[in-house]
Amino acid sequence: MKTSVCIIGGGPSGLLLSQLLHLKGIDNVVLERQSREYVLGRIRAGVLEHGFAKLMREAQCGERMDREGEIHEGFFISHDGRMDRVDLHKYSGGSSVVVYGQTELTRDLYDARDRMKGTVIHNAEDVALHDLTSARPSVTFRQGDEVTRIDCDFIIGADGFHGVSRKSIPRTVLREYEKVYPFGWLGVLSRTKPVSPELIYAKHERGFALCSLRSQVLSRYYIQVPLADKVEDWSDEAFWAELQRRLPAEVSARMITGPSIEKSIAPLRSFVAEPMRYGNLFLAGDAAHIVPPTGARGLNSAASDIYYLYHAMLAHYQRGDSSGLEGYSAKALARVWKAQRFSWWMTTMLHTFPDSIEYDKKLQETDLAYLFSSEAAQRSLAENYVGLPF
Ligand code: APR
Ligand code: PHB
Repeated sequence: MKTSVCIIGGGPSGLLLSQLLHLKGIDNVVLERQSREYVLGRIRAGVLEHGFAKLMREAQCGERMDREGEIHEGFFISHDGRMDRVDLHKYSGGSSVVVYGQTELTRDLYDARDRMKGTVIHNAEDVALHDLTSARPSVTFRQGDEVTRIDCDFIIGADGFHGVSRKSIPRTVLREYEKVYPFGWLGVLSRTKPVSPELIYAKHERGFALCSLRSQVLSRYYIQVPLADKVEDWSDEAFWAELQRRLPAEVSARMITGPSIEKSIAPLRSFVAEPMRYGNLFLAGDAAHIVPPTGARGLNSAASDIYYLYHAMLAHYQRGDSSGLEGYSAKALARVWKAQRFSWWMTTMLHTFPDSIEYDKKLQETDLAYLFSSEAAQRSLAENYVGLPF
């Protein structure tokens, strides 16, 4: 096979780029290791920056998001028995975020790819990248007994944290930065009315908790758990009881509980790989960087990579200008690191660390006290949460 851009990974990063390029007549192929059912069965985050929402509309995939997604102009932080509201709208100069599940967004992208007869190859096994520093790189993959080679101009590594693309960059070139947190988040999805119309991030000595939602009839809740915990350790009853212990009494009192329809544990990790380009391979999204979910940056950081890549590809194919491709890694990483900083800060401020000393606890309290006593601090939080400009 021959194509201009071979995209590895059919998650939100790969699909969004595929769709945007296709609309500009740039031929591309998406290779996904899993089946579509598997990809669409994963429950992931749900807070979108307006920059992301705009890109979805530009990709002609924004209709359902605009209809079903909710605009949120603020959220709560509960701590020390009180609830403080972060007014995103006021402190970000009128901006907000869109609450719309990543799973739904991915479904919309797949539907658009189908509608436009885009090539998305599922169950692609043994994907391997070749000749990355040559002018004609290629990708091979296997389906059953059949091995196919795709010749292309560029390869996009949008295959997530466990993908093959990043691993194809020589160890002498790649530098990885990692911070592993000593806990995970246990998440539950339930078909119940959310306890609050706006998100509640809860700091509690028993551990962090988060009340989020997918719609007015679908709730998403999380609690911080030790790394050793297994999903099987947590019955629905135990989960609800622990969640309620970590929230202000008046919130817990009005919480509607119900059977979980999904329950999973995700460890918290910060990770960045540099550079994000090697020859004609470009990394995007989780393949290059991971953040702990506390600041809702993961999906949004992927979106800014795609924005930069899309515009760099357009300049290359439409005007023969490769400066965007040359500068991609540095530009993307500058924003990636700001999202890392913000996610680390939110995580550190709100979680209970098993090895923290009394001094650390005082600093956490002071961080929150400062935040809610300073308009400048709230402005800084809001500007990062709604998304720094691309
Ligand atoms: N070959 C082909 N596809 C692969 C391979 C491989 N070797 N390895 C992984 N993949 C696929 C995965 O099955 C997955 O569907 O690549 C896709 C990567 O998708 P995501 O992990 O969703 O990563 P990305 O598209 O960058 O999405 C950004 O932001 O909120 C965060 O983690 C959240 O998934 C979200 C991410
Ligand atoms: C979610 O709804 O899954 C969610 C929301 C906000 C976060 C993390 C996860 O910070």
